[in-house]
Amino acid sequence: MKIAIFKEMRAGEKRVAVTPQICTQLSKLGHQVLVEKGAGAPAHFSDQAYEQAGAQLMSDAELITNAAVFVQINPPSAARIASLPDGSVLISLLYHRSDAETVKVLNSKRVSAFSLDAIPRISRAQSMDVLSSQANLAGYRAVLEGAQVMDKIFPLLMTAAGTVTPSKVLIFGVGVAGLQAIATAKRLGAVVEATDVRPETKEQVQSLGGKFIEVTGASVGSEGGYAKEATAEYRAAQRAAVNKSLAQADLVITTALVPGKKAPILVDDEQLALMKSGAVLVDMAAEQGGNCTKTKAGEIVEINGVRIVGAVNLPSSLASNASELFGRNVLELFKLIAPKGEMVFDLKDEIVQGCLICHQGEIRHNPS
Ligand code: NAI
Repeated sequence: MKIAIFKEMRAGEKRVAVTPQICTQLSKLGHQVLVEKGAGAPAHFSDQAYEQAGAQLMSDAELITNAAVFVQINPPSAARIASLPDGSVLISLLYHRSDAETVKVLNSKRVSAFSLDAIPRISRAQSMDVLSSQANLAGYRAVLEGAQVMDKIFPLLMTAAGTVTPSKVLIFGVGVAGLQAIATAKRLGAVVEATDVRPETKEQVQSLGGKFIEVTGASVGSEGGYAKEATAEYRAAQRAAVNKSLAQADLVITTALVPGKKAPILVDDEQLALMKSGAVLVDMAAEQGGNCTKTKAGEIVEINGVRIVGAVNLPSSLASNASELFGRNVLELFKLIAPKGEMVFDLKDEIVQGCLICHQGEIRHNPS
C-alpha cells in the first residue's frame, strides 16, 4: 500500500508526521512510503535521509496521483481536501467535535478519515495517542517559555551576595501537559503547586513533589478520563482555594481543556489583579480560547506588570522530538489498521470505532 506523507501547511509548523526511521518501519509492514519533498526539513530530517530509509520523494501533486492513503499532522485545508482522491484514506488531527463542516466535505468525497485526536484513551491505544505524546512535550516547553520571560530564576541559590528564594509555580490542570510541567518545574528547582477538577490527580501531583490544591465544597468529576465542564459553584470554590497561591506565584501555567468545548476560564480579570507585578502566566489553552480572560493566542500581553503568554503550537518548537513521537504513534496505528500492507477496516475494534470519523459515505461520529 502506498502511504503519502504531506509537508505541513500550517503557518509556523515545523513538525512532520513521519520521520525517516518510521519510514523504514512502515516498509517492514509491507508499505511503500511516498514523502513530499522538503516535508522533514523544518524538523531537520533531510530528503536524503528519507531516501536512505527507502521512501520516494515527490511533489504534492505527484503524491495525490500515486497514493491512496494520506498522512499529515494538522487538519487538512479545504484545498487539500478538494485535492484528495475520492474514496482515499486520510489520517490526521481533525477535531471533528468542533469542525462538522470538514467532516461533511471529507464524507462527500467518501474519504475514510481517521482523526488522531479521537483515539480512545484506553491502555491498548496509549502508543497511538498523539494528544499525549505532543502534550507531554508541550508541558515541558511551557515551563521553559515561562522561564524565558520571567526575570527570576527557579532554584534556591545561596551565594556570598545573599540568598535567592526559589520561584513559585502554580499549575492549573494536571493532565499529560500539566504533569510534565510539574516535573520540569521541579527539576529546575521551583516550588510547585497544582490543581485539577479531577480529584484522582492529587496523588500524581504529590508523587512528583508538588503540593495539590484541593477544591473543597464542590466537585465536577470526569468522564472517560476527561474533565467535565465545571459548574459556577465549582468555579467559586476553585477561586477561593487558589487565590492565595495565585497572588504569590511567579509563574502560572494553565493547561485546562474540556473536550469539544471552549477552554474554561480559570484566571479572570479580578484574579489577574491579585497577581504580582513581574509574574508570568503561560496559557497553554490559548488556541482553544484561553484559560485566562486576557490571553491572546500567539502574543505576550502585559497587564499591570503580569505578562500573559498565549502559547501556540508548543510541540512545533520541539519539532525533532515531536515528529519522532508523532511518527511512532502513526506507526502503531498502521500496525492496527494495515498490519500486512493493506487497509483492514475492522469496524468492531474499539480504537477504529473511536477514531474512524467517516467511512464509505457514512459519518460515524457526529459532533458532540
Ligand atoms: P486535557 O488536555 O483534556 O485537560 C488538561 C487537564 O485540565 C485535565 O487534567 C483536566 O482534568 C483539567 N481541567 C479541565 N477543566 C478544568 C478546570 N475547570 N479546572 C482545573 N482543571 C481542569 O487532558 P489530557 O491531558 O489530555 O488528559 C486527561 C486524562 O486522560 C489524563 O490525565 C489521563 O487520566 C487520561 N489519559 C489516558 C490515556 C490512556 O489511557 N490512553 C492517555 C492520556 C490521558
